[in-house]
Amino acid sequence: MSKEKLPKSWIDKELRQMISDLVEKFYVEVHKPDETFLPGKTTITHGGRVFDAEEMKMLMESCLDFWLTEGRFTKKFQEGLAQYLGLPFAIPTNSGSSANLLALSALTSPKLGDKRLVKGDEVITVACSFPTTVNPIVQNGLVPVFMDVDVESGNILADQIESALSKKTKAICLAHSLGNPFDLDTVVALCKKHGLFLVEDCCDALGSTYDGKFVGTFGDLATFSFYPPHHITMGEGGAVVTKDAALKKIVESFRNWGRDCWCDPGRDNTCGKRFGWQFGDLPEGYDHKFVFTHIGYNLKLTDMQAAIGVAQLKKLPGFVEKRKKNWKALSEGLKKYENFFHLPKPSPKSDPSWFGFSLAVREGSPFTRNDITQFLEDNQIRTRLHFSGNLIRHPAYKDIEYRVHGNLENTDFVTRNAFWIGVYPGMTSEMIDYVLATFDTFLKRKAT
Ligand SMILES: Cc1ncc(COP(=O)(O)O)c(C=O)c1O
Repeated sequence: MSKEKLPKSWIDKELRQMISDLVEKFYVEVHKPDETFLPGKTTITHGGRVFDAEEMKMLMESCLDFWLTEGRFTKKFQEGLAQYLGLPFAIPTNSGSSANLLALSALTSPKLGDKRLVKGDEVITVACSFPTTVNPIVQNGLVPVFMDVDVESGNILADQIESALSKKTKAICLAHSLGNPFDLDTVVALCKKHGLFLVEDCCDALGSTYDGKFVGTFGDLATFSFYPPHHITMGEGGAVVTKDAALKKIVESFRNWGRDCWCDPGRDNTCGKRFGWQFGDLPEGYDHKFVFTHIGYNLKLTDMQAAIGVAQLKKLPGFVEKRKKNWKALSEGLKKYENFFHLPKPSPKSDPSWFGFSLAVREGSPFTRNDITQFLEDNQIRTRLHFSGNLIRHPAYKDIEYRVHGNLENTDFVTRNAFWIGVYPGMTSEMIDYVLATFDTFLKRKAT
């Protein structure tokens, strides 16, 4: 058969297979990790991409589709994520920060009637956090109420929340700190009792469970990040999840420029009356595609990102197990140094899918946080601080409107003394042993 006569579908299939085989070969030759571990030379990162040829082949598939915007891979990813969590809706976004912005913005929607959050309403959160857990509160003209955290769980002092509520408090927005679930029994009960919305920032907690249920399934809305150190990655990426159909539609509207229309990219007239609506002061029958019911953004992801996510989702259960195993090995190995460090404790009723292993140097220890982090870094073990520490000590927050409930003593303690190291699935037991041996060396020098 001459080339001209071959059906396009045949060429497509054949060439895709050839390209896929080449990508596999490319992965093996170029990206396959060298398993050799050289203590003190091989960098042990705090987290990073763990992938093989499957992710690269999926990415290539989506490139060859050249659909580019949300398409078949996005659909597959969102269904897969929702199914994993046991929720009806997952809305992919271009980052975890965008997911948080969408979750908070959704709560301000006029479509929620009297329940909507309006300028000046308060949202309970913690000052010891990642900035973009809090930023959407500020960006929406709402007032963060900063509360203190427990040093060893990293989470809000939940028994103090009720006394922090005022007439203006309308929501609680908290992250599960480094994967460790916050006290969901108390928080959910308070939300029910006082009619508050709950946003769970699960960016660091995909796969963590509380009382046998995944985090992200307790709140009105929950968010995830798929930036490389997170539990799965697509480079940049995130998602909002919810069980509430109305909130899902609102989140999608904010994500898709604020428009009222819910057609997928490249589709028209999903509502069946594209030219049959009347909104605001617009002329009767104004094209529904261009009716805007929210002050929105464009925070969608591309189908290439989603394609990587589809391959990563398949690996998620294994990743979660590896994180737990690595965390346990560090926890057991460092227990003997509890005199020097506050070590992390899983919250009661929880089984965390840890993001990292956090340590806080105790008051009176013969070394500082910077002594130990510098030593670990010098020995090729990467460290990270507890994100912002006390957020309101940062220049960007100098002039924002906020309220502090109680004091932020523990938050300041964490800011001065805490750090974390990796547990990500790319860490081998050889690496864990080396990390523990490095702590031994440091403590032998400092503590004798
Ligand atoms: C708790 C938390 N929330 C939100 C984010 C933001 O996610 P992204 O980097 O995807 O914007 C992060 C990032 O690591 C995070 O740790």
